[in-house]
Amino acid sequence: MEKKYNITMKTTSIKTIGILTSGGDAPGLNAAIRALCISGKNKYGMKFIGIKDGYRGLIDNDTFKMDKLDFSGMISEGGTILGTSRVKPFKNPKPDPKSGLLPVEAIKETFKKNKLDALVCLGGNGTNTTASLLYEAGFNVIGLPKTIDNDIVGTEETFGFHTAIDIATDGINVIRTTAKSHGRAMVVEIMGHKVGWLGLYAGVAGNADVILLPEIPYDIEKLSAFIKERYEQQGYVIIACSEGALDIEEAKLGKKDFKKARLDMSQSVAFRVAQEIEAATGIETRTSVLGYLQRGGSPSAYDKLLATELGSAAADFLANKDFGKLVGMQEGRITGIPLSIVADKIKTVDEDAVMLRTARDLGICFGD
Ligand code: F6P
Repeated sequence: MEKKYNITMKTTSIKTIGILTSGGDAPGLNAAIRALCISGKNKYGMKFIGIKDGYRGLIDNDTFKMDKLDFSGMISEGGTILGTSRVKPFKNPKPDPKSGLLPVEAIKETFKKNKLDALVCLGGNGTNTTASLLYEAGFNVIGLPKTIDNDIVGTEETFGFHTAIDIATDGINVIRTTAKSHGRAMVVEIMGHKVGWLGLYAGVAGNADVILLPEIPYDIEKLSAFIKERYEQQGYVIIACSEGALDIEEAKLGKKDFKKARLDMSQSVAFRVAQEIEAATGIETRTSVLGYLQRGGSPSAYDKLLATELGSAAADFLANKDFGKLVGMQEGRITGIPLSIVADKIKTVDEDAVMLRTARDLGICFGD
């Protein structure tokens, strides 16, 4: 492929590393940063430079030395000590009004000023797509998979996902008691962006009666028939509704019309679903949007361990100059997945997903 930018990085030993976190925060980011810094220092004598607020800090040279940081306790801290943003340096790039530099040129300056040999980008799809473009441009880059959505292609696991499952599962459990007391249908909205992994896993773990996923458009007639029947049996119904859920009519719309339809509704999808259910069944229906609770707070033990393993392994990838890779998991093993495979794609729930097959076997309704 013809190179768009002319950036050549030195190939001697890799000693000074920049780290950034980008996109929505997720529990496990600090655990991964801590493991990377400790392993990199202990094994390879690496030094680390923190880059603030994701790609924003990389463009603006907003950096600090991490060698004085106290890593004790950091494994349990939620959020990210580096801050984050959703800045995308390759999306409609414009020269900086003061310096006249394009974002990629400013990034080159940041690399120079901080004497960076390589960069580690911790984030989800958007972050790793940018990491891939930076690598293509000639920078030494690796990625680490963070997202509560678990939607990164090429890796079976992303840190943050399991903590969010735990929180969303607790949310569903808490809702159950009030649903039961009042004899209501309850629609619990679960994050996940355009995919249903979080809704599916939390829905099964939380013993939801219905799970709505973006990958399986629901038919309101089938959905309400199931809800009526379940209500007659147990006196209440729990619907775990992914934030990206859609009905069979919306599924037919093009991207633009779909966005317009959603704007017209101007509310979380769960409210719309609740209105439809109440109108079709006559059952009093309420909504709870779990929202940002799902990615706040400390990581679960599972995510602490996953983030620690991946963060620590990232030091080996750097030392081996194994750039252009996402340090992910395949068949339970740490694997380097080319960023070009990860970029611009999302991992969706398909009918072969074990958890989906299990949920169908359990009689959970998906409204299809
Ligand atoms: O990607 C993680 C995520 O929490 C999604 O589940 C959600 O759709 C989105 O981020 C929310 O983003 P923001 O923090 O920009 O509102």
